[in-house]
Amino acid sequence: MRFPVVCYLVSTVVFAVCQAATLPRGNRTVANQHLQTWWHPTGEINPSTPVLDGNVRQSHVYTIQVAADKTYYDSFVYESIPRSGYGQRLSPTNDTLGGNTDGVSIEGVAGINMAWTQFLYATDVTVKITRGDGFAPPDPSKVVIRPTTLTYRMSTDGQSLYIKVPYSDREQKFSVEFQDDLWSYRGGGTDGLFVQDVDPNGPNFVLSYNSSNPVLGIEPTNALLIFASPFPPSSEVPDKSRHSTYVVPKGHVASLQNVTQSTVYFPPGVYWFGGANHGILSPSVDWVHFAPGSYVKGAIEYNTTASLVKATGYGVLSGEQYVYQANVADGYTNNKSDATSLRMWSGSLTANQTWICHGPTINAPPFNTMDFHGAPVSHVSDYKQVGAFFWQTDGMEVYPGSTFSDIFYHVGDDCVKTYYSDVDIRRLVVWKTTNDPIFQMGWAPRNVTNVTASDINIIHARYPGANMVVPSAIIGASPNYLDISATPTTPTSLATSQTLN
Ligand SMILES: *[C@@H]1O[C@H](CO)[C@@H](O)[C@H](O)[C@H]1NC(C)=O
Ligand SMILES: *[C@@H]1O[C@H](CO)[C@@H](O)[C@H](O)[C@H]1NC(C)=O
Ligand SMILES: *[C@@H]1O[C@H](CO)[C@@H](O)[C@H](O)[C@H]1NC(C)=O
Ligand SMILES: *[C@@H]1O[C@H](CO)[C@@H](O)[C@H](O)[C@H]1NC(C)=O
Ligand SMILES: *[C@@H]1O[C@H](CO)[C@@H](O)[C@H](O)[C@H]1NC(C)=O
Ligand SMILES: *[C@@H]1O[C@H](CO)[C@@H](O)[C@H](O)[C@H]1NC(C)=O
Ligand SMILES: *[C@@H]1O[C@H](CO)[C@@H](O)[C@H](O)[C@H]1NC(C)=O
Ligand SMILES: *[C@@H]1O[C@H](CO)[C@@H](O)[C@H](O)[C@H]1NC(C)=O
Ligand SMILES: *[C@@H]1O[C@H](CO)[C@@H](O)[C@H](O)[C@H]1NC(C)=O
Repeated sequence: MRFPVVCYLVSTVVFAVCQAATLPRGNRTVANQHLQTWWHPTGEINPSTPVLDGNVRQSHVYTIQVAADKTYYDSFVYESIPRSGYGQRLSPTNDTLGGNTDGVSIEGVAGINMAWTQFLYATDVTVKITRGDGFAPPDPSKVVIRPTTLTYRMSTDGQSLYIKVPYSDREQKFSVEFQDDLWSYRGGGTDGLFVQDVDPNGPNFVLSYNSSNPVLGIEPTNALLIFASPFPPSSEVPDKSRHSTYVVPKGHVASLQNVTQSTVYFPPGVYWFGGANHGILSPSVDWVHFAPGSYVKGAIEYNTTASLVKATGYGVLSGEQYVYQANVADGYTNNKSDATSLRMWSGSLTANQTWICHGPTINAPPFNTMDFHGAPVSHVSDYKQVGAFFWQTDGMEVYPGSTFSDIFYHVGDDCVKTYYSDVDIRRLVVWKTTNDPIFQMGWAPRNVTNVTASDINIIHARYPGANMVVPSAIIGASPNYLDISATPTTPTSLATSQTLN
């Protein structure tokens, strides 16, 4: 186990405080038939600014180890922060150009962030969570696991909290919430969002809260999610040595458009496209795989006519390098377009194609997360969306005949888009922020039948107020998009989030 030295550089005075951090950091991982964990040697502990291209933001609070028997192995704890540490920028090439409302208000001042870890397991495990300096030893009576329907056994030993997670053949996804580390979101901000009494120089500061500032949601400051997934079937792990597999070299990826193979495979490691580029796949590619321990800063656009198209693996696809609503047709700048602003998943797929998406985690989406040109039958399972701090960060389209199951959504906007018939949605854990309903049926007149949703757990929501254009609701229908300007109550601060999709 290595004990890193953490240095803080304090303002203009060249004054570095160095100390041996008590956080154990290591790379003692495991990969056997019971348990698989992984580690990023380029983890960067940095809760405030963008991380280096080749680095992965690592939790500045939590370390996690997992044991299937008596031995604990490290499981990397990722972290996502609002705007990924960039300012309120409008262009990927100009950090000083900023201003457009993006749904982030007091989060920076409040220190809001979201950490997560992911591992694969095939037996009961114990998850050991250790918080860093400055936190009291955990008290299980003051830790809430959400969904609260889960009844995992907790115990403590010194600074560590232990949670027993029984094996399940469905992914277990839950939030661990320390009750001594919560932030109360209070309404009444002049921008329609939240206020804070912490930093007079920060946004939406008030000297003290009054009755104009009701509490609208209480969430962990340092959120922590645990994703425990069963091992995937071999049919969902491509053979890396096949000549039909293109293995992406680590580091900067300039283009995938000349790939001639049918599978694009990201092995463990860090990859980045940059804020003005994304992963456009060549027409030969019908399968993209993110191996556990891969971290890809980019977005995927398919261009295949294959009948079966896939995205698999337990890696991360992160939109952290993009500006809010990055418009591909306008240099990836913040210029919202329903047609050309970047989705994490997009491309040519149509209704005669089937898309299987199993395993990936999406981080820091810049916009709606999935829209294809047509409406492929989509089978999405064991899928995670984290760090959706921007406003218009919708869930996926649920095209006709689709099945969605075992999904965690941290989501800013329309979460489940029930625009089409004959769909089945099961076992969702939803952490909603401020915009639009969780089940969105509206934006256009629709004839929809046979939509089934079951076992939906909403663990958080913080709607700024009642609103008929962007309904603050579990199930709602926004008015016809084409008539929306006729609606007199549209608050301008929320009007930017209107979408056809
Ligand atoms: C752990 O770190 C050491 C030293 O950096 C390195 O040699 C080793 O390959 C790493 N092991 C794993 C499993 O990453
Ligand atoms: C960035 O934007 C600011 C504000 O519009 C402008 O003054 C500056 O020249 C721009 N910088 C570059 C490198 O374009
Ligand atoms: C609450 O405080 C704000 C100033 O932060 C003030 O403008 C407002 O009138 C107050 N509201 C009430 C109900 O006292
Ligand atoms: C693709 O290959 C062609 C021909 O070799 C080359 O001219 C082009 O620059 C390549 N495109 C990309 C994006 O790498
Ligand atoms: C998709 O492939 C077709 C050829 O099949 C090509 O003409 C088109 O430019 C490609 N689109 C993108 C976005 O690469
Ligand atoms: C925004 O992008 C569109 C392309 O989607 C372009 O036509 C338009 O000129 C851009 N608007 C501004 C203000 O740059
Ligand atoms: C699927 O439909 C599109 C038009 O939507 C068509 O261009 C394509 O050839 C069809 N593909 C197959 C495999 O039938
Ligand atoms: C309802 O949708 C499901 C798919 O979710 C489909 O299997 C079933 O046949 C549909 N039922 C009817 C009556 O169309
Ligand atoms: C919905 O179905 C009804 C009855 O079939 C039809 O009259 C109406 O035009 C349909 N509306 C839309 C928006 O498709």
